Amino acid sequence: MSGTASGMRKGLTSYGDSEFSLFLRKAFIKGMGYSDDALDRPIIGIADTSSGYNACHATVPDLVEAVKRGVMLAGALPVPFPTISIHESFAFPTSMFLRNLMAMDTEELVRAQPMDAVVLIGGCDKTVPAQLMGAASAGVPAVQLVTGPMLTGSHRGERVGACTDCRRFWGRYRATEIDEQEIADVNNQLVPGAGTCGVMGTASTMALVVEALGMMMPGGAAAPAVSADRRRIAEATGRCAVDLAAARRTPDQIMTAKAFENALTVLLAIGGSTNAIVHLAAMAGRLGLNLDLDGFDRIGRRVPVLVDLKPSGQHYMADLHDAGGLATILRELRDLLHLDCLTVTGRTLGEELGAAPPPWPQSIVAPLDSPIYPEGGMAVLRGNLAPGGAIIKQSAATPGLLRKTGRAVVFSSVEDMAARLDDPELDVTEDDILVLQNTGPKGAPGMPEAGYIPIPRKLAARGVKDMVRISDARMSGTASGTIILHVTPESAVGGPLGLVRTGDVIELDVPSRRIELRVEPDVLEARRQTFVAPSHADADRGYKKLFLDTVLQADRGCDFDFLVPPEAGPTDKAD
Ligand code: FES
Repeated sequence: MSGTASGMRKGLTSYGDSEFSLFLRKAFIKGMGYSDDALDRPIIGIADTSSGYNACHATVPDLVEAVKRGVMLAGALPVPFPTISIHESFAFPTSMFLRNLMAMDTEELVRAQPMDAVVLIGGCDKTVPAQLMGAASAGVPAVQLVTGPMLTGSHRGERVGACTDCRRFWGRYRATEIDEQEIADVNNQLVPGAGTCGVMGTASTMALVVEALGMMMPGGAAAPAVSADRRRIAEATGRCAVDLAAARRTPDQIMTAKAFENALTVLLAIGGSTNAIVHLAAMAGRLGLNLDLDGFDRIGRRVPVLVDLKPSGQHYMADLHDAGGLATILRELRDLLHLDCLTVTGRTLGEELGAAPPPWPQSIVAPLDSPIYPEGGMAVLRGNLAPGGAIIKQSAATPGLLRKTGRAVVFSSVEDMAARLDDPELDVTEDDILVLQNTGPKGAPGMPEAGYIPIPRKLAARGVKDMVRISDARMSGTASGTIILHVTPESAVGGPLGLVRTGDVIELDVPSRRIELRVEPDVLEARRQTFVAPSHADADRGYKKLFLDTVLQADRGCDFDFLVPPEAGPTDKAD
């Protein structure tokens, strides 16, 4: 934490006379009815991300009250403040485009306003990484609270939840298996209330890996948004923030290289969202650490998928909470974790695991010796098509497609795909490999979740459920299929993906971690000579210009280059 001043004296506005600055500050905040006794306490900021556009954060006002209660019970002064809030479906062109803006907003408000610690209330996919990126850079003691998963709905007797079932029903509608009335009916049931998506999507994944990272109260990841448990966790988080402030325990003391290894181990064991790799890389990067993709793949060879949640499995986050939450997973992984890592409570991960409630019979988390899937949920691919790496969520892929050689059918952009994919005349068979270009960090821009390329309608209508699909885009954590993502370098900066043409042969071999474009080098070089980077409207001003000028590739977390300290070192140096 910068400086030794605390409470209201922290970060005084510059008027040239610090005592006058404090006098003026107190005069203004007393306009809200505060006493000197209250203003002499340590101050706990509460990042309030409630928004009329964000149903995933609909309970934030309740959580703010519960956090305030915890802070005051511990003798400090809670001060909520608003920040940017991002919802996946209400962010044009894509929420990822705005994540770094939220991170900058959070960092600057945490640094600019007087607070001895901050409670970050997030939940929806991009909000948690944005808040932790910002807090890491601000260097102020911080603890994450998530809004928690939504409950499930029911459609004609079938349990449903956002958003794996959103995609499943939409796929059935595209295949004409269900009619207009049924798709309208299910639309009312997929999001039955407040909270984050109830499957192992990005929000659930980030909640679990952040608890494993040590930046959240133990047990804080899985409690449903509308549960009493969630409010008790919020109260405990408020108390925790007061302790963090007293100890001046900053994020860099918790988010260490070894803690990131713990997070990656949990990410693999939960069959988590591929997006988490990008976010963890960005969070680590803020603390000068490089997330090592090949090290991640090596961890994946020995960490199997244990959690039976959609989209890889059958159940929902509320079921994981009933099964004991993250502690049940950590218990199985105990021998694979760095248990000496510090957490926000001031105790180690191992001490917190020892203090967790005892296990009980459950069927959501499999034992390590009888996993759901024998390897980690994700694999890192390399080859001449992805020299900087690519990701596949192998646990959600079709096993028979993990080794596949096929003819490429190329779409040059999201718009090109939208225009041609469902054309009955499109030259495509189920043995082809669909390739989508220009959907990476700079290409779209913002690396949208366009990697879940729909099955062409004429094939879907014939019952084709999965094909190999390759792009430099991301994919929603709630989606499934044999989908290769985050191809680096992206096509828009001249990566090999941008040189693929329809009719080329691509060879995928996930067990060998290879992805190759079978085209002669001189042919590729000739194509490279005629490569033209895509242009974007309104690219010469504002945030879009900043984004396009400075965004890093997926392997660096898509952060902005000027927000990452230069002394980045590898996270694989943990021992
Ligand atoms: Fe917010 Fe899924 S849309 S968590």
